[in-house]
Amino acid sequence: MPTETTSTAAPWFDTNLEERLTPSVISFFSTYCHLEREALYKHLHFIHQRAWDIRPYPCIGQWGFLAPKIQDSPAYATVLQRVKNGDTILDFGCCMGQDLRFLAANGAPSDNMYGADIEPAFWELGYDLFQDRSTFRGRYLESDILGDTTALATSSLRQQLQGKVDVAYAGAIFHLWDLDTQFNALAGLVELTKKDSIVVACQLGSVEVETKPAWREGLKPRLFHNADSIKKLWDRVSETTSTGWRVESRIVDLDVLLPNEKDRSWMDKTNRGLFFEATRVA
Ligand SMILES: C[S@@+](CC[C@H](N)C(=O)[O-])C[C@H]1O[C@@H](n2cnc3c(N)ncnc32)[C@H](O)[C@@H]1O
Repeated sequence: MPTETTSTAAPWFDTNLEERLTPSVISFFSTYCHLEREALYKHLHFIHQRAWDIRPYPCIGQWGFLAPKIQDSPAYATVLQRVKNGDTILDFGCCMGQDLRFLAANGAPSDNMYGADIEPAFWELGYDLFQDRSTFRGRYLESDILGDTTALATSSLRQQLQGKVDVAYAGAIFHLWDLDTQFNALAGLVELTKKDSIVVACQLGSVEVETKPAWREGLKPRLFHNADSIKKLWDRVSETTSTGWRVESRIVDLDVLLPNEKDRSWMDKTNRGLFFEATRVA
């Protein structure tokens, strides 16, 4: 499994935008920010390079921000309906806030939306990408969830949102970490929730539980879950936080998350997509 590189020769840095402009991508940008196909090319190439310069994640190199993954989650309809009904959503590891914009484009008000990320420059770039600085009312909280729960206790995330989050979404972030970091991050998110809240995630998983090399220096080797091991992680989180959760998890073929063959070609054959939805019952 490859690790971080800033080189644009990386197999996950794709300069071909044409094939990414599917009818649903065109419709998203046209509905949400009234950018039509002709205007998109220059604009999106510019954003792509700037985002890569902030942090060269494969999802950026592969234009993942054009087709927000939240729509692929089995919980998407529930999430959309809950936010439309006034629930507060936190997108953790929100990057440019594309998943929140996708919900907004599909009728959810942005008033109760929060995005949290370690890289504020991504959030700023999101306003450029979606051209909605004066209309999008979602708020951004800079947050580094790495470290122990004590670090989180002093973060603005906990100060502002403890017990207030109805829907927590985490897209393509837990797979960057080792098991203990995933545990700390989940336990931290649980602090922000209340009864009936849901935590929804999509990430890379594996047929069998697998350890992969660290994504970058300073991080520990990553743990890729299967559908059972993610439930075990939730058992540990429930016990430690004295909360109860009903967890549904699903492993899917990679093409569900990454329909473009190019985006899967550099990945290990055992990689899969993993979705989970946890509902707080106590
Ligand atoms: C691989 S990107 C996924 C972005 C987006 N959620 C998606 O589904 O495409 C991971 C995101 O998590 C953020 N991130 C990484 N480590 C973090 C940390 N320790 N605390 C908060 N955010 C972090 C990165 O800045 C980046 O925006």
